Amino acid sequence: METLTVSMPRIGDIAPDFKAVTTQGEINFPSDYKGSWVILFSHPADFTPVCTSEFMTFAHMEKQFEEANCKLVGLSVDGLYSHIAWLRTIKEKIEYKGMKNVEVTFPLIEDITMEVAKKYGMIQPGESSTKAVRAVFVIDPKGIIRTIIYYPLSLGRNFDELYRVVIALQTADAFNIATPADWRPGDDVIVPPAVSCGTAKDRMEGKEDMKCYDWFFCTKEISKEKVLKTILKK
Ligand code: BEZ
Repeated sequence: METLTVSMPRIGDIAPDFKAVTTQGEINFPSDYKGSWVILFSHPADFTPVCTSEFMTFAHMEKQFEEANCKLVGLSVDGLYSHIAWLRTIKEKIEYKGMKNVEVTFPLIEDITMEVAKKYGMIQPGESSTKAVRAVFVIDPKGIIRTIIYYPLSLGRNFDELYRVVIALQTADAFNIATPADWRPGDDVIVPPAVSCGTAKDRMEGKEDMKCYDWFFCTKEISKEKVLKTILKK
């Protein structure tokens, strides 16, 4: 019996490189995406309902991601002609939650050999050894993996959350801050922790322009306008 070698890239790793055939032509990953954020995501199979709802939603939001300098790249272990036929069906026939005539213009990788899926740990044999799970890799403009999220076959992703992740990562980079639970642009952000007793004391005495719940947990305001103006392309 053949053993499946599954490698799992980790947060902070350079995104493993590959060359692939897609519905938008050949791509070299991640080098073709240098300078952009990119979401590389897998789905189990073409012509399946959860995946169809996901592709329609993602395609519908593509402009929003583009404005955040984030490109989308999909993958399943189906072949190119299946991908093309499925995307044509979505555009021509499927009306779902007010979305219709939806054209998927981001690349969808054919990966019949599972070469890419195996490299990215998208095949999780306990769930399925013939289909990729719903993996999401958020990769920064330097090609570093910044976030990894996995969902099982039966669970459609929350694309508002994926957008929030991209914006939060970009905000953390731009302002040298961290983002608290459920953060959205306009909410207070977390400042780096005090690294000396003096700073801790100053913060607790209100000498810095921030709100401190304790010396190690301080937040400050950054307006929604400032976040969005810094991050979004005009
Ligand atoms: C779906 O996309 O509907 C699906 C795909 C594989 C397994 C279960 C559901």
